[in-house]
Amino acid sequence: MVRARLSLFCAVVLLAASCDHKSAAVTSPTPSPPSTDVDPLKDAAAMSGRLVGAAVQSAFLGDPRYTHVFDRHFNYVTAEYEMKWATTGRSPDVEDFGAGDAIAGYAESRGMRIKGHALIWHGSVPSWVNALSASELRSAFENHIRSTAAHYRGRVLAWDVVNEAVADDGSGLRDTVFRQKLGDQYIANAFRLAREADPQALLFYNDYGGEGLTAKSDRIYDLVRDLVAQGVPIDGVGLQMHVSAANPPPDAGIAANMRRLADLGLRVNISEMDVRVRDVPGTLQARLDVQRSVYRSIVAVCVAEPRCDAVTFWGVSDAHSWIYTQYGPDNPLLFDEQYLAKPAFYGVMDAFRRR
Ligand code: XIL
Repeated sequence: MVRARLSLFCAVVLLAASCDHKSAAVTSPTPSPPSTDVDPLKDAAAMSGRLVGAAVQSAFLGDPRYTHVFDRHFNYVTAEYEMKWATTGRSPDVEDFGAGDAIAGYAESRGMRIKGHALIWHGSVPSWVNALSASELRSAFENHIRSTAAHYRGRVLAWDVVNEAVADDGSGLRDTVFRQKLGDQYIANAFRLAREADPQALLFYNDYGGEGLTAKSDRIYDLVRDLVAQGVPIDGVGLQMHVSAANPPPDAGIAANMRRLADLGLRVNISEMDVRVRDVPGTLQARLDVQRSVYRSIVAVCVAEPRCDAVTFWGVSDAHSWIYTQYGPDNPLLFDEQYLAKPAFYGVMDAFRRR
């Protein structure tokens, strides 16, 4: 089947929303040039044929420092949580797409592309869903995918359809409410429902811990290979890339993993990148220099892989990051808490410029 595909080579940007993320970056010891003085990342990414994205929260879209950096540097946007089921489906009877629509409208008004995230994820299930019987869950699952994908039909370039379905040790599928009550075929069904509801959107499987060659990435590979073999409508795999600069996945493993996925006929992308530095020894400046190197080399792997078409960072600046609630204070993103470009920014710029 030939489907009109939206070009990936477009402009993007961001959003905002209410969230409890603390500002926990460590203050940078050396001044950086204001982000307005550095070249737009999206121009360098476009030269390499890639989209460059950021996860945004709708609540931050009213902050001019935030939007200035977002607008200047990014051309692809992922809603950090606003399009997830726990947000859209707080009530069993009423769907609420307001916060997601705020992000989508912002992005569209600036010519940015939108990545829908994420239709089915065990980490964002409305509380009422957990109490459903198997047949009730099947109905709710189908309604949620159909109505969410239909709501954003024609507006999103891609959807993360199923997120994090593989167990961390790579032993098999993660034991979720979906698997328990709907069986393993919930994954194939989610993709089929999404394709029916939005035939134009690129449909991705998205996960973490399977960036390089690991037991988990082997299992993810097996999963998507089987989906492709069964004719399930899947277009690509997102590698989240939440990594530590103290122990990043080896570049060669990431490259080999991307290539084997590409050999299945799939696209790949880096979908949620951030690089923690708290476990790197030395001064803050030394840690930020190591971070620059990790960002450069991993983004360069994407730029060298013809089927890797986008790199998204999981936040705009160190002023707000999900990492702080997960791991504690850190400096994981491309811009510091003052929205100034960090060494990491220049590392990513070098990668897009193939330097
Ligand atoms: C996180 C968001 O950053 C938080 O705002 C939210 O509270 C929980 O989810 N993998 C994913 C993302 O696929 O959706 C997660 O985002 C981070 C891990």
